[in-house]
This record gives sequence, C-alpha cells and structure tokens, in this order.
Amino acid sequence: MVEQSEVVRQNREYWERLAPHRLGEPVRFFLEGGSALTDPELALLGDVRGRRVLHLACSVGDEAVTFAQRGATVTAVDIAPSHLATARSKAAAVGVDVDFVEQDMMTLDPSITGFDVIYISWGGLCWVPDLTSWTHSIADRLNPGGTLLISEHHPLWEVLTVRGDNTLSITTDYFGTPRDGYTDPLKAPQITQHLGTPDLPHRSYVHNLGAIVTATLTAGLTLTSLQELPHPESYPALGPQSTQLPATYHLTATRPT
Ligand SMILES: C[S@@+](CC[C@H](N)C(=O)[O-])C[C@H]1O[C@@H](n2cnc3c(N)ncnc32)[C@H](O)[C@@H]1O
Repeated sequence: MVEQSEVVRQNREYWERLAPHRLGEPVRFFLEGGSALTDPELALLGDVRGRRVLHLACSVGDEAVTFAQRGATVTAVDIAPSHLATARSKAAAVGVDVDFVEQDMMTLDPSITGFDVIYISWGGLCWVPDLTSWTHSIADRLNPGGTLLISEHHPLWEVLTVRGDNTLSITTDYFGTPRDGYTDPLKAPQITQHLGTPDLPHRSYVHNLGAIVTATLTAGLTLTSLQELPHPESYPALGPQSTQLPATYHLTATRPT
C-alpha cells in the first residue's frame, strides 16, 4: 500500500502541471450572476446565507466563490498551490472573501472544524484513498444538524467506456482498486484531453455507491438523500439511450443534533 504522503506528493505534482491550463470560470461569469453550483445542489442546500461552508478539493475555487457570493462564510481546501493561487485572485476580483487553505483533505488541521455544510464535487472524491477514515474526519467537523453534500460523477460512469453506437465496455473495476492513471481518457480531467502530453503518474480511486453510503452511515451521519441523474454529454455516442444510465449523483447526509 502506498503511503498517503506519497499519494499526495504525486497527485499534487499532477495537478500543479495542469494548473496553467485549468482556470475554471472567468471572473466575468460570477460578476454577471453565474453560479458554479447547479440547480439540484442549490435545491438540496437551501439558503446558505450566514452558514459556515467547507469546500474540499476546491481546485480553482469556483463553487467556493459561488457559496461566498450567496452569503456563506467559506473555507476551501486543496493540495495544489497554483490552483489555490488562481482561486484567491478570482475571489478577490469577484469581491468575495474565501479562506483558501493548502491542505490534504485526509489530514485536515484540527482548527478546520465547526461547519454547517461540507461540500465536495465533480472529481474531488476520487482522490480520497480511504473513504471510511475520510467520512469519520468529515463528520467530526460538521456542526450538529450540519450537512455533507457530495456531488459526483457516478461510479458506473467511471467504469464504463463508450466505444460507439450503444457499445459499452468496462475499463475499471466498479468494486474499487486504485487507478494508476486513467484507462479511458474521457474520465481524466477534461483539460488533459487537449494537452497532447503523457500524464504524470497519479493515483485516484473509484468508490462504488454502496461503499460511499456505508462509509457515510458508519461515520454516524444520517443519509437524507441520494439522487442518481442522467447527463447525456457524459456518454457521447450512446444517442437517445445516454439518458438511460446514471452519470452523476448527489448524496446528502446530516450530523444528528
Ligand atoms: C477535478 S478537481 C476538483 C473538482 C472541483 N469541483 C473542480 O471542478 O474544479 C480535483 C482537485 O482535487 C485536488 N486534490 C487531490 N487530492 C487532494 C487531497 N488529498 N486533498 C485536497 N485536495 C486534493 C486537486 O489538487 C484538484 O485541484
């Protein structure tokens, strides 16, 4: 088993390399009223004004900025300093205050606690090597009544590759082995599809839905919703049947009062 510090070192290098190419939404998007949080996410969270939000694996901070624009007090964590630098300058240009902190979400500082919402999304959870220790650590940092929201690519999407015209093949193990690189380039961060250079080594993980729900429950959280959603663009070439498979999911869980 590879040490967590080595996983983080490799993954930090990988994300640092992508940093010049991955800037997220422009400042103008936020100033013109754009939201990096989707409608289903906003519906699940309700009004976040005055709430303390922790955004994990925040990358360039788009969702953190949206939370802040909506009146939340936001702390956002990532391991990649260049992504955090982009996030800080974006927040400053938009005119919101976000505390961007360079940390590994598996070994968060004890001072990072007392949140009403903990949020992770779209390619964040796949960097967690050990779901159970992660959910335990997260549960402890939620205030009683606080909500964990995970918005992610569906693990079924992670393992299925579309070869064209309603032909699917399996390229990763649904039951979860670490991935040393991506076997299907469509599952890699979008920007890597245009770089034309080989990937640096990195290590990510597929977590099946059963494992995610179980880790949430064993951490003492109450599962409040689990929505699986289609997203046709995630299965290009499947045509009309692209809506018949789950592509994303949202899970919410609360810390009992
Ligand atoms: C695809 S992005 C996260 C998704 C974000 N919602 C977005 O689309 O920008 C993945 C991020 O996870 C970060 N990351 C990877 N491992 C991490 C860890 N152990 N702790 C915190 N952040 C991590 C990477 O640095 C990268 O910025």
